[in-house]
Amino acid sequence: MNKFEIKRLVDQAFQTASLTAKEITALLAIDLTELDYLLEAADRKRSEICGEEVHLRAIIEFSSYCKQNCHYCGLRKDNQALKRYQLQKSEIIETAVMAAQLGYQTVVLQSGEDEHSAAEIAAIIRSIKTKTDLAITLSLGERELSEYKLWREAGADRYLLKHEIADQSLYSDYHPGMSFTNRINCLKELKKMGYQIGSGVIIDLPGQTPEILARDLLLCQELELDMLGSGPFIPHPETPLKNSKQGTVAMTLKFTALSRLLLPFAHIPATTALGTIDVEGRQKALQAGANVVMPNVTQGKYREQYQIYPDKICVNEEAGDCRQCIGGIINSLGRFVSTDHGHSMRKEFVKLD
Ligand code: SAM
Ligand code: SF4
Ligand code: FES
Repeated sequence: MNKFEIKRLVDQAFQTASLTAKEITALLAIDLTELDYLLEAADRKRSEICGEEVHLRAIIEFSSYCKQNCHYCGLRKDNQALKRYQLQKSEIIETAVMAAQLGYQTVVLQSGEDEHSAAEIAAIIRSIKTKTDLAITLSLGERELSEYKLWREAGADRYLLKHEIADQSLYSDYHPGMSFTNRINCLKELKKMGYQIGSGVIIDLPGQTPEILARDLLLCQELELDMLGSGPFIPHPETPLKNSKQGTVAMTLKFTALSRLLLPFAHIPATTALGTIDVEGRQKALQAGANVVMPNVTQGKYREQYQIYPDKICVNEEAGDCRQCIGGIINSLGRFVSTDHGHSMRKEFVKLD
């Protein structure tokens, strides 16, 4: 595709938030030298919709136990080399209180698909809501709808469940015993329950093509996501995909930029995975449409054990260090850390803050 054609499609996406699968595929296939116009347009759209504020979501990785066997993930059940941990209820609550004291407005409670009882999670949500003013995002994988309902009633605001790859056949290959249909159904039901929903993809999984990524973006539009994340695939040595090629910064940035243009009102994170494969990765994403960063607040010794992929950044830092570091990064880009909850920008939620 030549420069003029790229400009025409990017301008169309900027003005209408609408492109066909073929047009998205063509933009995802452009090479590095042609990237600037796309990234700049996404940055302009981000500034128009979100302004210069960046929302921080503090992640508490509270359990590394998982009953699933996703082919890419270091927490998969069959990884016997991983030392597993599960935080006590009191530790999770204390960490959330500490996050609030550091100025965070949102905590994300994340874990593998472990067997934590739904009632205990509900009690944790209630306690965090009583002790703090934090918004709560859950990222616990697929559970019974009755459990999602219980947690929503307990006060959870958002749910993050990436659909990972919008291709049924590759989804089945990479997620033994799991079903793409069920995953999408979970997202739809969560939305009906009043959760703000987040989904997203892993970029450059083996076999993934620009055509598939185009379908991912159209699916995200159809789901009317409140949040959309994309992180590059990073091979983990104790998984079946250990010898596969790592995802690229360029494809992650293209996907991030198109996410902003096609879902202008979504919150879009500059992901930790991108910061792991490129020291400037999060800065680049923040300048290509992203308006969110998700720093880790998990306490020291557990960070290393939540090894989704190798060499994850910040494993030797403390929560306060990350808060300071990320604040500095955001300010260095001429942006500022938001002081509100950063609820969904979709119109049904705008009155929440
Ligand atoms: N178990 C929950 C789930 O699967 O939704 C939440 C935790 S899971 C570790 C969070 C995310 O990590 C997944 O949605 C996946 O996209 C990402 N992830 C796992 N392994 C990865 C890898 N090797 N490279 C990049 N991202 C990875
Ligand atoms: Fe478990 Fe989530 Fe990792 Fe899959 S991606 S193995 S569900 S922690
Ligand atoms: Fe953790 Fe920079 S965000 S050290």
